[in-house]
Amino acid sequence: MIIAVDGPLASGKGTIARALAARFGLPHLDTGTLYRGVAVAMLEAGIPPEDAAAAEAAARGLDAAAIDEAKIRTAGAGSAASVVSAHPGVRAALLELQRNFAHQPGGAVLDGRDIGTVIAPDADVKLFVTASEEARAWRRHAELTSRGEQWRYDDILGQLRQRDARDAARADAPMICAEDAIALDTTEMTIDEAIRSAIKIAETRSACASG
Ligand code: DC
Repeated sequence: MIIAVDGPLASGKGTIARALAARFGLPHLDTGTLYRGVAVAMLEAGIPPEDAAAAEAAARGLDAAAIDEAKIRTAGAGSAASVVSAHPGVRAALLELQRNFAHQPGGAVLDGRDIGTVIAPDADVKLFVTASEEARAWRRHAELTSRGEQWRYDDILGQLRQRDARDAARADAPMICAEDAIALDTTEMTIDEAIRSAIKIAETRSACASG
C-alpha cells in the first residue's frame, strides 16, 4: 500500500505520516529532508539557493543517508529549501529516488508537497493535510523555540505565507491538493485526534482498494 501525505508547512503532515507508517508497518520518507539537504549543501558552499545549475548539481550529488537532521531543521534551511525546490532540475534529480521509495515491494508512506500528484499519482491513499495559517505559525513557533531558535510570531507567520505562496505558485509540481485526495483540516485537532482521523481515512480507503 502506498500512502501519500501532502500539505503545507506545519500542517501536521509529518507527524501523521510517521504515525501511519507505524500503524501499517510501512517504511516512511519525509521528502522535505531531500530539498532541505540540497539547501544546506548550497548554504554551506556559500552559493545562493537561487542558482539553478548549482542547485541541480547539489541535488544530483546528494547523499540522502548523510543528511544532518540538526542542520536541515533550521528556519534558514527551510526557506532555502523552498527556493531550491522550485528549480525543475532539482526536482528531476530527486524524482527517481522518491519514486523508487514509493514503489518498493509492500509500499511506503511518503510526505511532501507533490506525492499524490507527481511522485505516486497511483497511491492507494492520498491525504492533503491543512490547518489555518495562524495555527501553523504557532506550531512552527513552538517547534523552533524548542530547538533554541528565537523568533517573533509575526515573523514566522510572514515567512510561512511566503513559503506557502512560493510552494503553490511554482510551475513545476506545485503544492496542490490532488483531485482524489482527502483533505484533513487539523486546525482544531490535537495531534492524537489528527492521527486517529488519518488512520480511519487510510483504513477505509485501503479496504475499498482491496475489496
Ligand atoms: O516539508 P518541509 O517544510 O520540510 O519542506 C521544505 C521545502 O521543500 C518546502 O518549502 C517545499 C519543498 N518540498 C517540495 O517542494 N516537495 C516536496 N515533496 C517536499 C518538500
